[in-house]
Amino acid sequence: MNDYEKTIVASSADPDRFWLEASSEIDWIKAPGIGWDESSKSWFPDGQLNSCYNAVDRHVANGRADQIAVIYESPVTGQRQTFTYRELQAEVARTAGMIAAQGVGKGDRVIIYMPMIPQTMFAMLACARIGAIHSVVFGGFAPPELAKRIDDAEPRLLLTASCGIEGKKDIPYQPLVVESLALAKHRVPAVLLFQRETLRADISNGWAQDWSNQLAKAGPADCVPLKSSDPLYILYTSGTTGTPKGVVRDNGGHAVALNWSMKNIYGLMPGECFWAASDVGWVVGHSYIVYGPLFAGATVVLYEGKPVGTPDAGEFWRTIERNQVAVFFTAPTAIRAIRKEDENGEYYPVSGLPSLRAIFLAGERADPDTVKWLEQQSGRPVIDHWWQTELGWPALATCMGLGDDRRKAGSAGFPVPGYQFHVLDDNGESVSDEKVGNISIKCPLPPGCYQSLWGNEQDYRKAFATYPGYYETGDAGFRDADGFMHVMGRTDDIINVAGHRLSTGQMEGALAEIDGVSECAVIGADDPLKGMIPVAFVVTSGQQGERELAEACIAHIRTEIGAVASVKTIHVVAALPKTRSGKILRSTLRAIANDQAVTAPNTIENPEAIEAILSKVRSAGG
Ligand code: COA
Ligand code: AMP
Repeated sequence: MNDYEKTIVASSADPDRFWLEASSEIDWIKAPGIGWDESSKSWFPDGQLNSCYNAVDRHVANGRADQIAVIYESPVTGQRQTFTYRELQAEVARTAGMIAAQGVGKGDRVIIYMPMIPQTMFAMLACARIGAIHSVVFGGFAPPELAKRIDDAEPRLLLTASCGIEGKKDIPYQPLVVESLALAKHRVPAVLLFQRETLRADISNGWAQDWSNQLAKAGPADCVPLKSSDPLYILYTSGTTGTPKGVVRDNGGHAVALNWSMKNIYGLMPGECFWAASDVGWVVGHSYIVYGPLFAGATVVLYEGKPVGTPDAGEFWRTIERNQVAVFFTAPTAIRAIRKEDENGEYYPVSGLPSLRAIFLAGERADPDTVKWLEQQSGRPVIDHWWQTELGWPALATCMGLGDDRRKAGSAGFPVPGYQFHVLDDNGESVSDEKVGNISIKCPLPPGCYQSLWGNEQDYRKAFATYPGYYETGDAGFRDADGFMHVMGRTDDIINVAGHRLSTGQMEGALAEIDGVSECAVIGADDPLKGMIPVAFVVTSGQQGERELAEACIAHIRTEIGAVASVKTIHVVAALPKTRSGKILRSTLRAIANDQAVTAPNTIENPEAIEAILSKVRSAGG
């Protein structure tokens, strides 16, 4: 048996023993004696620790004080800054003091609506230090979305900055945050704003306090002891309704799982450099820009830029070269964007990237063509791996650190030790290899996975109710005869656009609010760059011109959900195809948008609607 197989056997034969052993790599205030506790449904219920201590202070105490912990690479501002573990400790402790001075303590929520700057990272770790629960909101969301998260999390403090920088655009945060605060029913007692020189905000009327002034007054705050099951953070993600789901992450299970993943999945050793080119607003950013690499004593890159245009398609490679990145993680969309501009790899360094051992992709399906191209360019293994916000760390992968190097284009690899996958039919029976079914994971989920949804026990339970004893991932796929898992797509109305998780149901909800829209359906259509893009079919009830209505729809989604929803195509149609029981035939609409053969099911009520849409869409050129 190889190391991967041995670890699979050990982790499934005695999960408690396996994870208790892994927990010894974490510094506990009180080491756990219990693994999974079914009664409290939590891992390590008797353990006490502090996640910030494990990410920062313990490395200062254990000989890594002068090692670089964080490299801030910001091609959009031309800045590059490094922080050793000692400097990181000082920054985080003082930021924690600043937050505590606002009356924030253990269990209080802090919303962080900030760009990719070091202060965002300091703030997350500072919350962890004092036991406050952070909730980072992605900068691409519009005020109504931020307001929903404020109302759900009821924060004591909101942290923000004067602006974000999106490629060549400055995005002032002041109007967004001020509007969100006004829209929210919950009154946020305090706002701290970090002024960026690129674009300063006007806080003279006192709507926010100046971060730097408050920081200057603050003394350092120490790490507080927390129960393993105490929440570390809430991260909102798209569910199937318009209301985002607040995934709650614990402290203990998270620290153990993420620390384990660095060595065993990514094969990263302490002191090496890891770069996940994502955003701290997503789970990838939480797990692999902030916590995972720091738990493991690695150096992380915090990158404020894009794969292309900041300034060009070579910036990823230069960043890897400059920082001796050993393992790189990005979304397939980013690689497609680079390839589009540099098919022949002219930006790829002629002498290669010697420090780089592997490239991991996730967030959406990695198409074989992109994987092949990147492997050819880099001469390195390109590994597709699969996970979700709910899980918090990879569940399917090729575990490099366990000596596995099996790969098959189109597959996301094998179950990661700790996860027991089953592909089930709609009745909950296992299907045979090569047959597509519902990808499910046997309970209990390993450490690090979510154990609740903030204030929403009902929806949390739903994910475990369809197939009793299993977690329903919401993804469909199959295991092939060689044991490789293949993820085909969602079984619900969630779509992945440029690696960003969005709900079509939420977009439909926004469209339905528009005067003149009587019915609508949003589907994910294939896109050569972003993997998928949302396309809307809208039935009009008013007198508006089609173009005017389409423009109103695009603008409304942007205002209500945010630029990240990026709906660009609206088809105004006379009717939507429906079954006799009134269900919209979304798969038919998807086929039309994808220019695929369309066959009307025999349950259709109005076949003429398909003909009308087809002729309209095809005459419009897609
Ligand atoms: N703050 C504010 N606005 C944001 C934002 C943020 N953090 N992130 C994205 N947006 C905006 C963009 O500016 C764009 O606005 P626009 O319509 O006014 O141009 C819109 O949201 C859509 O963004 P995106 O889907 O990212 O498209 P893009 O055309 O700006 O960029 C890529 C295309 C391929 C360069 C970009 O999608 C990319 O880097 N993808 C990789 C994503 C990734 O790493 N995901 C990781 C998840 S694991
Ligand atoms: P998120 O919660 O934002 O990480 O999105 C999780 C969803 O993204 C999954 O349920 C999948 O639908 C999709 N996803 C993530 N990684 C992959 C992958 N490697 N292959 C296919 N789909 C993926």
